Amino acid sequence: MLSVKPFRNITRLCLCFLSLWLITNTASAQSADKFFPKSDLMPIGSYYYPEQWPHQYWARDIKKMAEVGFDFTHYGEFAWAFIEPEEGHFDFTWLDEAVELAHQNGIKVIMCTSSPTPPAWLEQKHPEVLVVNEDGMTMQHGSRQQCSWSSPVYRDYVAKMVTALAKHYAGDKRIWGYQLDNEPSHYGQYDYSPAAQVRFREWVKNKYKSIDTVNKVWGTAFWSIRYSSFDQIRIPNGKELIAQPSPHAVLDFRRFSSDEVTDFLGLQYNILRKYILPEQWITTNLMPEHAPVDPTRMTNLDFATYTKYLVAGYDKGLGPQGFRMGSPTSIAFANDLFRSINGTTGVMELQPGQVNWGKFNPIPMPGVVRMWIWHAFAGGNKFVCNYRFKEPLVGGEQYHYGILGPDGVTPTTSGLEYIKVIKELKSIKPYYQPDAQVPAAYHNRQAAVLWSADNRWEEDNQPQTYQWDYESHVMRYYGALKEMGAPVDVITEAKDFAKYPVMVAPAYELLDAKLVERWKTYVENGGHLVLTCRTGQKDRNAKLWEMKWAEPIYNLIGAKVPFYDLMPDTVQGTVKMLNKTYKWNTWADVLDPMPGTEVWAKYSNQFYAGRAAVINRKLGKGTVTFVGPDTHDGSLEKDVLKMVYREAGIPVADLPKGVIIEWRDGFWVGVNYSPKAYQVPIPATAKVLIGSRTLNTADVVVWKD
Ligand code: GAL
Repeated sequence: MLSVKPFRNITRLCLCFLSLWLITNTASAQSADKFFPKSDLMPIGSYYYPEQWPHQYWARDIKKMAEVGFDFTHYGEFAWAFIEPEEGHFDFTWLDEAVELAHQNGIKVIMCTSSPTPPAWLEQKHPEVLVVNEDGMTMQHGSRQQCSWSSPVYRDYVAKMVTALAKHYAGDKRIWGYQLDNEPSHYGQYDYSPAAQVRFREWVKNKYKSIDTVNKVWGTAFWSIRYSSFDQIRIPNGKELIAQPSPHAVLDFRRFSSDEVTDFLGLQYNILRKYILPEQWITTNLMPEHAPVDPTRMTNLDFATYTKYLVAGYDKGLGPQGFRMGSPTSIAFANDLFRSINGTTGVMELQPGQVNWGKFNPIPMPGVVRMWIWHAFAGGNKFVCNYRFKEPLVGGEQYHYGILGPDGVTPTTSGLEYIKVIKELKSIKPYYQPDAQVPAAYHNRQAAVLWSADNRWEEDNQPQTYQWDYESHVMRYYGALKEMGAPVDVITEAKDFAKYPVMVAPAYELLDAKLVERWKTYVENGGHLVLTCRTGQKDRNAKLWEMKWAEPIYNLIGAKVPFYDLMPDTVQGTVKMLNKTYKWNTWADVLDPMPGTEVWAKYSNQFYAGRAAVINRKLGKGTVTFVGPDTHDGSLEKDVLKMVYREAGIPVADLPKGVIIEWRDGFWVGVNYSPKAYQVPIPATAKVLIGSRTLNTADVVVWKD
């Protein structure tokens, strides 16, 4: 077994951070489930911007919102210039009127802090608050999120504005909950401003205490990067460096950038919590895809919500019309990741129809907006909010759909789908049974996907091949689990592994002896662990082990990893398993099994033909499987997972790619992102509540056993 000694210092560091986290984290101690009575199922709402419309429209618009059937609306995330038109002069009269209009129409309000859109006077007076991007360009007023989370001046203004808002709406029951900022992410840009440089240095100092430790962990003897004091440290920025920066410094910068959002949100959270009612919740809305933010690190919230736009030209989906629907794993993965963070989540923004900012902006498939909402329901969301109620006539989001079209009164095609789905959700409410038990066959298939932003950041930075993509690698396993009808939680190491009969940890590059030991215990107690290529190569700071390649996992997987291979996309690597051939050319770990380890698949071409590609071993009451190659179509990954379940004696479903069936609060929900209709094997005794047993493309079926 691997010696624990070399890890002591790292463990000590981790413990130190854990206690720091426990001290500073006031939010997640609360259980987020308490905010949402289960019998409400999933309220639906829509964004409205009173400040963007003539005053005389407000009453008509909000009334219309109620007629459509929306349960709540969403105000204020971009309204700072209207809330504080002049420094220190706050004006809530207009917002009060909008809140009261919602209330009069039976609509609850999600109130937002408008930190992403500071008023022009602020930046004019304090240009030092602005973000500097990687090219050294200072961002300017004129859009949104141009201010640095690291700037003490900006933070000070944010704190004053949030305090004024919190005091003004303290105890106001018309407010359902609060959203902090909006998609805090700088939309994929990193901040290199002087303020960020200062805070990064402090973060590094706080983490490593001595400059010698920084030099050691970042490997600064390499190319004489060596620092003699903290003030020499700059954020590693490839654009201002001749060659590669230290990968260890880059990883720390990614962590810092994410922690900076957490800290910025924590500032706002703590102010609001002082004034608002205990039953009012605080969240923010995050894009799971955006690298600067790790949703699982957002601990200063009651829970995190996500935003989803599936049809914007980037996601091909399945079949010739898939670009109008998006991938089946898109909403599914967000559900399973965000719900697992704090037990509860909601969709804060869902695409209403055509958008304006995509690679190209096709019209979504008729019916698919309704299907997405049902998919969100299936995944346990506590609410869905549509982005946005009215199509804007001016500004940076012209051509963007709303529930109402440009005349401000006629529902768009997506608006009509919302009207339909809201009625459908109301129609199933009488069938809700609080004591409904999750069906055993479904529950038994429960799987965890162990996910880590650290691995993603590290592998994004050092992909080793232009074809490597951490997210796609994860999705091959995740998608296969969904096709097997398994409920999945996407979890981090902070969670208990024991309740999951199957756990997949894809490309888990960074680890320590403690994690290997936890995996071993998990398996010995009956868990079925699936590890994949790239796992175990480095320590938590991305240092390669001073051991054999990936040696820390050898005893666990029952094999050695003598080497790995990467090939051009014009050459096909082949793997054979049970007379079936699979193709790869992105990544392949070649394996040397130890005695007692079974070989499930072998490489069948290249100079290592005949050597092991997939292995499996029994350990205690469970099994460990290691998958060496990363295939393009995920077929090997799926067949391996099926074998793992078979070995474990857990029956699984066999759904076509694109069909997802999930159970929630007593309801079965099926959605279809595939180009073909699917006959859902619903028992004759079941009651079909929505749709029919023939599940068409972009359609929904809901039934009760
Ligand atoms: C989201 C953003 C919204 C709006 C929307 C348009 O990413 O949070 O504020 O811009 O996109 O599709």
